[in-house]
Amino acid sequence: MYSDLAGKVAVITGAATGIGKAIALRFGQEKMKVVVDYRSKQEHASEVVQAIKEAGGEAIAVQADVSKEEDMKRLIEAAHTSFGSLDVMVNNAGIQKEIPSHEMRLDDWNKVISVNLSGTFLGASQAIKYMLENDVKGCVINMSSVHEIIPWPHFVHYASSKGGIRMMTQTLALEYAPKGIRVNAIGPGAINTPINAEKFSDPGVKASVEKMIPMGYIAEPDEIASVAAWLASQEAKYVTGITLYADGGMTLYPSFQAGQG
Ligand code: BGC
Repeated sequence: MYSDLAGKVAVITGAATGIGKAIALRFGQEKMKVVVDYRSKQEHASEVVQAIKEAGGEAIAVQADVSKEEDMKRLIEAAHTSFGSLDVMVNNAGIQKEIPSHEMRLDDWNKVISVNLSGTFLGASQAIKYMLENDVKGCVINMSSVHEIIPWPHFVHYASSKGGIRMMTQTLALEYAPKGIRVNAIGPGAINTPINAEKFSDPGVKASVEKMIPMGYIAEPDEIASVAAWLASQEAKYVTGITLYADGGMTLYPSFQAGQG
C-alpha cells in the first residue's frame, strides 16, 4: 500500500473487467476516488463501484466510449464534478481481434486503432490539459503490451497500436516533464482476462503460451494492478517515459533460454 495515494482521484478507462477492473479495485484498497469508465458493461461497472466503496474508497461509474472526443471530455469532467480533481489517468481500454493481415479490412484496422491508440491519445491529452489548467502534478499510465516491441502476426492493428502507445508515452513524458506530469506505460504479457478467456480455455493453446513465458505461468490481473499502483505513487516520482514490462520474462527472447544461438 502507498499512503500518498489515499484521497487521490483516478480515472480508469475500460474498468468494468480485466486489468482495468483489477486496477480500479486496487485503487479502491488504496482509498482513492475512482471514476470507473465502461463502454457497454454497466452491470460489471456497478459491481466494481460497489467493491471499491466496500474497500473504503469512493467511486462512480461513467459510460464513455474512449474513441470519442466528447465522451472523453465528459469522463474527465465527471472526475472534477464528483471528486474535485484528476491526479491519475489510466488509459486502459483496449480491444483485439485475430485477422491475417492480408485479409484485414480498413474497417477492422480502424476499429482497433481508434480504441487502443486514439483512445489513449484522447485520454492522455485531455487529462494533461486538465492537470495543466488546475496545476496538478499528476500522472498518466497507458496500458501497452509486450507487443509494443514483439511483432505479432495476425494482430498487426493491435501490435501497431501498442508500438504507437510506446512512442506516445515517451513523447508526452518528454513534453510535460517540466510541468511535473509523469507519463508511463505498462507492458503486460499474457494475463488471465476476458480478452484471453477463449484462447486460454484450450489447454493446448494455454500450454503453448506458458512455454513462451520464462516464469512459466499466465498472470492474474492483480499482478498488473500492483505495478499501476506503484507507478501512480510517489515511490515512482522520478520515473517517467518508461514502459514497465510485467510479463514473466516474455520479452527476454525465451527461445534462447537454453543457451542456443
Ligand atoms: C494480448 C494477449 C496475449 C499477450 C501475449 C497481450 O497484449 O492481449 O492476448 O496473450 O499479449 O502475447
